[in-house]
Amino acid sequence: MTAPPKKLFVKTYGCQMNVYDSERMTGALAAEGYEVTEEAASADLILLNTCHIREKAAEKVYSELGRLKPLKAANPDLKIGVAGCVAQAEGAEIIRRQPLVDLVVGPQAYHRLPAMTAALAEGRRAIDTEFPVEDKSDHLPPARGPNARRAPAAFLTVQEGCDKFCAFCVVPYTRGAEVSRPAARILAEAEDLVERGVVEITLLGQNVNAYRAGDWTLARLIRRLAKIDGLQRIRFTTSHPNDMDDDLIDAHGTVEKLMPYLHLPVQSGSDRVLAAMNRKHTAEAYHQILGRLRAVRPDIALSGDFIVGFPGETEEDFAATLALCRRVGYAQAYSFKYSSRPGTPAAGREAVPEDVKSERLQRLQTLLSAQQTAFQQRQIGRVLPVLLEKPGREPGQLVGRSPYLQAVHCAAPPGLIGQIVPVEIVDAGPNSLAGRLH
Ligand code: 5AD
Ligand code: SF4
Repeated sequence: MTAPPKKLFVKTYGCQMNVYDSERMTGALAAEGYEVTEEAASADLILLNTCHIREKAAEKVYSELGRLKPLKAANPDLKIGVAGCVAQAEGAEIIRRQPLVDLVVGPQAYHRLPAMTAALAEGRRAIDTEFPVEDKSDHLPPARGPNARRAPAAFLTVQEGCDKFCAFCVVPYTRGAEVSRPAARILAEAEDLVERGVVEITLLGQNVNAYRAGDWTLARLIRRLAKIDGLQRIRFTTSHPNDMDDDLIDAHGTVEKLMPYLHLPVQSGSDRVLAAMNRKHTAEAYHQILGRLRAVRPDIALSGDFIVGFPGETEEDFAATLALCRRVGYAQAYSFKYSSRPGTPAAGREAVPEDVKSERLQRLQTLLSAQQTAFQQRQIGRVLPVLLEKPGREPGQLVGRSPYLQAVHCAAPPGLIGQIVPVEIVDAGPNSLAGRLH
């Protein structure tokens, strides 16, 4: 008789790479007899896949762990694991702070999870935050069992880590140096995804446009992926301005399957702050790149990330950030108060007072949300090709994505999930569009 499946509950925080990694971990643990549950209370193993990018994100993990205490009290056999960037950054310290944790696994060691769960079964704790020489992607099974159908849009990690060392950022420490996966593996994974019903792939990397494997660049990879029959949409994220080479810009004008949306963080509009952040480019250089992109793809929608209140940021510097946003006109953007991260170069620098940060963030977000609303409104009356992805909130409704990554709701039969259909946009909210099949 085979043992009943053990139940695995995974909670994912942070970026899309964590979403992808959670799927891969689920796949690796499925091979060990773990079945996914949506209920933490019925789980034998709870994995928190964590984010360390800002203090708030990291602290969330400890409050969640605190909330898991009663579950552990009710079920002494329950095992609790912390994965992701908090695991990498804090290692064994997590167990010291929260002794109910049984397992700590860093992002480069996920392929060792099966062996680690074996240790758990023997009543031992397991910690692995090494950067092993072997490539974990070679050792992790595909995200789901063989031949399983997939949702129409999928992530595919092509590159991990970062060598840029922006002065505020923990990523080079938690995810390590830039490593690109071999093109052949990526193409095989993409083919497999498409066979399982995927029509849109988002290529992921902390520095995705720095992708380089032998003669392969991101642009070449995109052109090759575009040749896969059945794959209809390609996206990539996140990019650094300094790696937007001519070929990649050109791809936006020539590869039809490459969607007209680009997330290109600039962080600040002040050259003084950009230099202090070690971004190695100016505001003008950023505008030049966007100008070239818009020349080849006039409707490209732009998204960015901003940090306000970086150490030393003056009112004048902040005004330059507002000016940059006005000149760009973002379709969508994320903005954050600077959060000091232990071990990063900016951590010791003199902080901007909290109330100043809050006030600047508010002004920036007011501007960015006005731009986002304007972009949303401009879609009304247009007919957009929408990839229908899943049931919407209301019965009879499906929700999908426009080429510009906007959520679009419309009445449609479930049989259309996975198809790209023309939708006439009739209404626009701040975060989604409403339309009808055209
Ligand atoms: N404080 C605030 N925001 C940060 N980001 C990265 N590090 C920090 C930090 N220490 C933001 C950047 C980055 C995004 C993923 O998170 O804007 O692009
Ligand atoms: Fe962090 Fe800068 Fe690397 Fe982006 S480019 S991951 S912000 S260090």
